[in-house]
Formats: sequence, structure tokens, C-alpha cells
Amino acid sequence: MAELTVNFLGKTLRNPFVLGAGPLTYSGEALVAAWEAGLGAVVTKTLRREPADNPYPHLVDIGRGTLINAEKWADLTAEQWIEREIPLAKKHGVVVIASVGHTPEEAEELVRPVEDAGADFIELVSYNESTMIPMVEKAKERVKIPVIAKLSPNWPDLPRVAARCLAAGAAAITAVDSYGPVLRLDVRTARPLLGSPYGFGWLSGAGLKPIALRAVAEICLANPGAKVIGLGGVSSGEDALEMLLAGAGLVGICSVAMSRGLRVVDTLTRELSSLLDELGYASVEDASGRSLPHLLPAEHKERLRFRYHPEKCTDCRLCVTRCPYGARRLEDKKMELDEEKCRNCGYCVSVCRPGALTSDRLRGWA
Ligand SMILES: Cc1cc2nc3c(=O)[nH]c(=O)nc-3n(C[C@H](O)[C@H](O)[C@H](O)COP(=O)(O)O)c2cc1C
Repeated sequence: MAELTVNFLGKTLRNPFVLGAGPLTYSGEALVAAWEAGLGAVVTKTLRREPADNPYPHLVDIGRGTLINAEKWADLTAEQWIEREIPLAKKHGVVVIASVGHTPEEAEELVRPVEDAGADFIELVSYNESTMIPMVEKAKERVKIPVIAKLSPNWPDLPRVAARCLAAGAAAITAVDSYGPVLRLDVRTARPLLGSPYGFGWLSGAGLKPIALRAVAEICLANPGAKVIGLGGVSSGEDALEMLLAGAGLVGICSVAMSRGLRVVDTLTRELSSLLDELGYASVEDASGRSLPHLLPAEHKERLRFRYHPEKCTDCRLCVTRCPYGARRLEDKKMELDEEKCRNCGYCVSVCRPGALTSDRLRGWA
């Protein structure tokens, strides 16, 4: 069985799954419930000087595992987190990452009391790229526990921001926060789905995954050896492995635990474990970063080699009907490809759910 425990900044975590800051980490009791569901570590809702006052409504499921929200930071006071919530979680053995936002002044004021309350790590978060580096510097002056910088996918040059955070003393990077602003409307009422200014909100869950993966990969390519928590859109063991392959050392989840409940942690752990076994990875650490050597700056221009596996074919014919160029024919489980018409786009392989059509790039060449 592949090894799921991970050494993260000197602490052994029982598995790589971290519950990101969000509604399921709103109190000490919530952190304990997440811990009891089997997470490797849990991030608190973000502490600030003033508790948040959220608009109504501020959280909407827009389908396909994707959410938009206009939820701010913690609605409990920082004092309450420091005096009650973090100590309560620590009494139950939770590995606590305390999230602190969003300005250098708040970092300066809050990180030491949070460390004294028992937090194992600090995660700094900001809406604004320019405040992140001073936040890291202020935190590093004040605490001994490792400081993690959480980056927003809205910032244009994440590899550079990550490098500056690491140079300022951050021990790890979390990538990413939710993406936005975004907008959805209700066609029946003509009103925005969220009660925030202009109805604007932030996207998370499945729709965010490709953005998060790109962020993790580009940070890791530019900062070899950086410890990264890959967070954004993970909703299966396969997604988790994808995050690891892109260079993450730990895998964050938030929206999936809201859509499917904390029971999902058990499913994700089992799915990841069996995939690691199936693909021959000895451990989470063994899988981490394995895709990075394949992420090359040059275009790939070798023609695809296709293979058809009739025993897996369900005759759904999507490979034929979806081909924009009419290049495929399928008759009595005999596949033909018109090489003249085929543009090597690879779409046919990607729509073949049973894996009857594979290529040397997609779904394996077996
Ligand atoms: C309703 C909601 C509230 C959130 N609140 C916070 C927060 O207080 N602090 C923070 O750093 N991130 C917050 N996040 C962002 C998540 O921690 C995470 O970065 C983001 O949702 C992407 O992960 P996911 O796609 O797995 O949900 C929140 C996300 C959601 C959906």
C-alpha cells in the first residue's frame, strides 16, 4: 500500500488532505469535526481585527461541483479564536493552520497570539498582492512556527510572487484562493445570485481546478523544491493525484466538502490510495512533481498515435459524431481514420468515456 503520511515542514500528517479556510472551518467545533472526518490538517476561517458581516445571500451552488460566494473572513472575533476556538481544536489533537488576513498591520497584531494559542502553522491571506510580502515579513519577525503564504489566482505573476514570499521567509505556498470577481444571474427574478455589491462573487470548486493546477505547476516549475498546498477544485482521488503530479506536496479541499459533506474525506483518501497503488507510486511524496518534467515550453508537434480497443467500445459513436472534421468512421467495431481530414486535435480520445480510443498522449497508450 502506498504511503499516505506526509512530512510537512517538520510535522507528520496522516494524509495529504487539508481542509481550506471556509464555512466548514468557522469555529473550534467545526475544526474538530473536520479532524474527526480524517483530514491531515485544517485551516481556520480567516482571522481579522473585526469580525465579518456578510451580505445575504453569500453562497450559491451553481452546479457541476462549482460554487460562487461572497463570504468574507471569520464572523467570530479574533479574540474568541485565540481564547477559545484554537485551544479547543488543539485539545482534540487537530493539526491547526491558523489563517490570518488581510493587511501587514493585522499580521503584526495577530500572529503571535495565534501562535501562543497553539496553532501549528500560520497561513497569511490577502486580497491584494502588494500586501503579501510585508505580511510575511511581519509574521516572520514575530513567530517561530512556519508561515505559509496563500496566493490568489487573480494575481498576474504567481511564480514571481511565490519566489518573493519564499525569499521573505515563507516556508510554503498555498495555491489558490477562489477566483474572481464572477457574476451569475437568476433569469426568473433578473437579480444577481449573490447579495454582494453588483452581485459579484468568487468562484470555487470544479470550475476552478484547471486554474489552480496551472498555478501550482508554474509556481513549482519556477521555484524548484518549494512546498506547495494545491487547493482549488479537487473533488476526487484522481483530482488529488493531478495536484500532486503538478508539484503540490499537500492537497487542499473546500467546496467538495460543502457539496458532499465531510464524509468525502474518506472517499478521497481511499481513491487516492488505490490510484497511487495502481500507478506504481510508493507514496504521496513519490508522486509529487512527477508531471513537471513533461511541462515543456515548446509546442508538441509529433502526430498522435491512436489505438482502438474494440472490447471496451460501447458503440456510443461520440468519436465519430463529435469529430469536427468528419475524419472518423466506426462500423461493426471497426474504426477507420481519414488521415487527410484528421487535424490531430485529440478531441475524439477525450470524449471516449470507456477508454476504447486512446493515444500516446491521452488515457495511456496501453
Ligand atoms: C464560502 C467560501 C468561503 C471561503 N472563505 C475563505 C476564507 O475565509 N479565507 C481564505 O483564505 N479562503 C477562503 N475560501 C477559499 C478556499 O479556502 C479555497 O481557497 C477555494 O475555495 C478553492 O478551493 P476549492 O475549489 O476546493 O473550494 C473560501 C471559499 C468558499 C467557497
